[in-house]
Amino acid sequence: MPAKKGSDEIVTLLSNEKINEKYFKLVFSSPGLSRHAAPGQFLHMKISLGTDPFLRRPFSYYRVAGPKIEVLYEVLGDGTRILCRKKKGETVKVMGPLGKGFAGNIGKKKRLLVAGGVGIPPLVFLAEKYSAEYLLIGTKSKAEVLPKKELRKVKAGILHSTEDGSWGSRGRVTALLEKVIMEEDPRGLFIQTCGPKPMMRAVMALAHKYGIEGEASWEESMACGVGACLSCMVKTREGLMRACADGPVFKFEDLEP
Ligand SMILES: Cc1cc2nc3c(=O)[nH]c(=O)nc-3n(C[C@H](O)[C@H](O)[C@H](O)COP(=O)(O)OP(=O)(O)OC[C@H]3O[C@@H](n4cnc5c(N)ncnc54)[C@H](O)[C@@H]3O)c2cc1C
Ligand code: FES
Repeated sequence: MPAKKGSDEIVTLLSNEKINEKYFKLVFSSPGLSRHAAPGQFLHMKISLGTDPFLRRPFSYYRVAGPKIEVLYEVLGDGTRILCRKKKGETVKVMGPLGKGFAGNIGKKKRLLVAGGVGIPPLVFLAEKYSAEYLLIGTKSKAEVLPKKELRKVKAGILHSTEDGSWGSRGRVTALLEKVIMEEDPRGLFIQTCGPKPMMRAVMALAHKYGIEGEASWEESMACGVGACLSCMVKTREGLMRACADGPVFKFEDLEP
């Protein structure tokens, strides 16, 4: 889905809270940033209005309800460490919606969503907006599983896998995906995925094995976020493309394995 005109503005946090062992959720309100946002598109956030960190950080839209926007994030480095200390009433500068999101219309095919790590937020948004057969969520353990209330608006069967077997199926989410594929007619499936690159590569290998079409959100580290600096290049069959402006969502067939 191509991007429509968006906004770049300073927003005030309505909340910013830890929701489990892995994720924080922040909420703010902005008609300009929410109006045309589609699942798979992202926001580019200047976490500090000073110079540290200097670069913006990209985050997917997790949920949009009217002007309210939610972002689900993991604390990984300096930027997210500063972000998670921000309190209600503090500000960040946000540009969006950016990039090309997931296909909403997939014809008569059954949608299978495969999510892991920081790829979970855009696929929850997609599964709330368009129904899917299943949303498969892979995490390391039960401690990382989203609270039930975060998933209650999802219009899909939710299947969890954990690497240690503490919640849902034991093992990788791709093992669960293969089980689901084998119960269906693969020609009628369409896979959309976002998560760690090894996970997405394994999802694409299964899709190739069973002849299933799909899309992956290929998230690269970004600087400008708007296609100007070429710091987010992705190898595709058409040559190098910009994750921020030509993606982050690409068709499986366009991505080089
Ligand atoms: C389009 C897009 C959407 C994203 N959506 C979300 C989201 O919804 N929630 C969320 O928690 N995170 C999301 N991310 C990842 C998020 O941008 C990074 O985690 C964040 O920039 C880290 O900033 P930092 O300053 O805390 O860490 P940094 O100090 O910048 O990085 C910490 C570590 O994470 C690695 N890293 C940073 N960005 C990425 C990346 N894109 N892929 C792989 N490794 C990376 C760095 O190499 C480093 O090892 C998204 C990234 C992209 C490109
Ligand atoms: S981040 Fe600058 S071109 Fe993509």
